[in-house]
Amino acid sequence: MSFLEFQGIGKAFPGVRALSDVSFGVDAGSVHGLLGENGAGKSTMMKILGGEYVPNEGRLVIDGQPRAFRSAADAIEAGVAIIHQELQYVPELSVMENLLLGRLPTRLGLVDRRRALDWTRQRLNALGVDLDPRAKLKQLSIGQRQMVEICKAVLRDAKILALDEPTSSLSHRETDVLFRLVRDLKAQGKAMIYISHRLDEIFELCDAATIFRDGRKVADFPTLEGITRDTLVQRMVGREISDIFGYRPRVQGDVRLAVRDVTGHAVAEPIGFDVRAGEIVGFFGLVGAGRSETMRLIYGADSRSGGTVAIDGKTLRSSDIRSAIRGGLMYCPEDRKEDGIIGVRSVAENINISARRNHLRAGMFVNETNEARTADIFIERLRIRTPNRRQEIRLLSGGNQQKAVLSRWLAEKDLRVLIIDEPTRGIDVGAKNEIYNVLYELAERGVAIVMVSSELPEVLGVSDRVIVMCGGRITGEFTREQASEEAVLARALPEGAARADANTTRTVSP
Ligand SMILES: Nc1ncnc2c1ncn2[C@@H]1O[C@H](COP(=O)(O)OP(=O)(O)OP(=O)(O)O)[C@@H](O)[C@H]1O
Ligand SMILES: [Mg+2]
Repeated sequence: MSFLEFQGIGKAFPGVRALSDVSFGVDAGSVHGLLGENGAGKSTMMKILGGEYVPNEGRLVIDGQPRAFRSAADAIEAGVAIIHQELQYVPELSVMENLLLGRLPTRLGLVDRRRALDWTRQRLNALGVDLDPRAKLKQLSIGQRQMVEICKAVLRDAKILALDEPTSSLSHRETDVLFRLVRDLKAQGKAMIYISHRLDEIFELCDAATIFRDGRKVADFPTLEGITRDTLVQRMVGREISDIFGYRPRVQGDVRLAVRDVTGHAVAEPIGFDVRAGEIVGFFGLVGAGRSETMRLIYGADSRSGGTVAIDGKTLRSSDIRSAIRGGLMYCPEDRKEDGIIGVRSVAENINISARRNHLRAGMFVNETNEARTADIFIERLRIRTPNRRQEIRLLSGGNQQKAVLSRWLAEKDLRVLIIDEPTRGIDVGAKNEIYNVLYELAERGVAIVMVSSELPEVLGVSDRVIVMCGGRITGEFTREQASEEAVLARALPEGAARADANTTRTVSP
């Protein structure tokens, strides 16, 4: 019997069966991967483990003891810590206050701030985490906030630690720190669960794995030795996907998007490039390379200090999103969660809220039949797991929310240029494949596409041309034929670091 056992767990929500009769075990001193498509039930299982949901059937057994958690406090008491897919945090709290939470009344009084600071600093150092104890959570990156959560779990001496898609918005360096921490915790004998859609990470970190599909367990791998990526994919999606990128060459037209000498916030050197009708240009760079900032300048979300952007020869007005939209340029931001999801609205409404319509205040009259049709097409194509198009979007799994919001841009009419930032973050392999197909179709219709991505295999697999950025400037450009992993990476790394970092930089495959 494993240290942690899930036994016959079932969980139903109105209209949705999230989990059915799921049993598996997680050993102490191991990292157990949990895999499955968006909506397979992974996060629901973690919420049951964390005491947030009470299962309809089944039970947890921890260290031989059956447990029935009624609340999150029960789970914490039993030594469980969950780092959730969507972190919740109090923005005004400092790192120290967070770590001391619940400890303050004991030995360390609030008054003794000096001692509390020293104590926190020591703990953070011991964990190899480089954070200022006085920094407020709102000042930290998502990765740093996750570190705080993990430190909190370690300080509580949790025996079971679950990480639900922890790396989806981490930089390479943060991922390295996280992995080191996970390995240390494993060596200390913790039982750990690791959820990710990035199979490279699963192979790198996990000792064993379990695969969910449609709320059922479909496979257990006590070891990942000798198991191939294809096997995992096949078990996850229930079909073979031989080539997830499925690149299709196409005919390219004239220059559609012409960017000339653009300067502004976070841009170190004037930026210039062209994209042709029907062309997909991948923008690669490490987190912080300035790609998203550049795109915001082009779109007009931030004001340009110089340079021009033209579509089909017509110059757009600077710092004016409406001018961009009128010209047929749409920008799908990286942070779709903050920028886009309207939680209480339905899936169908979220798919149909056109940014174009929003900004131009056009189309007051909505055609419900059309909206329903568009929604159903995308629900089916991207396999958005929802009971129906009227479901509130907040009730969907993280990845399915992403798919619904992304559909908004993919469904956009009168599009000439699409800039899409990290199109497949948090999205499962099967749906990634379908998203690429939609991008190819848009390109075939003559749309010029700029795809910003931190996933090198995706950039290499999907783009007709690759532009590399580093430190706020364009540092390389490659045709599809020229673009190799080494060549592109070498340009993405800061000068000097190229040698030293080349071996340690993570290149993540879907
Ligand atoms: N509170 C809820 N009410 C209704 N349905 C829910 C609720 N929570 C989850 N679900 C549904 O349960 C199913 C499983 O969701 P879950 O979040 O566990 O998926 P997941 O495997 O974590 O997916 P992802 O990879 O996208 O994060 C989904 O169909 C989801 O829509
Ligand atoms: Mg999830």
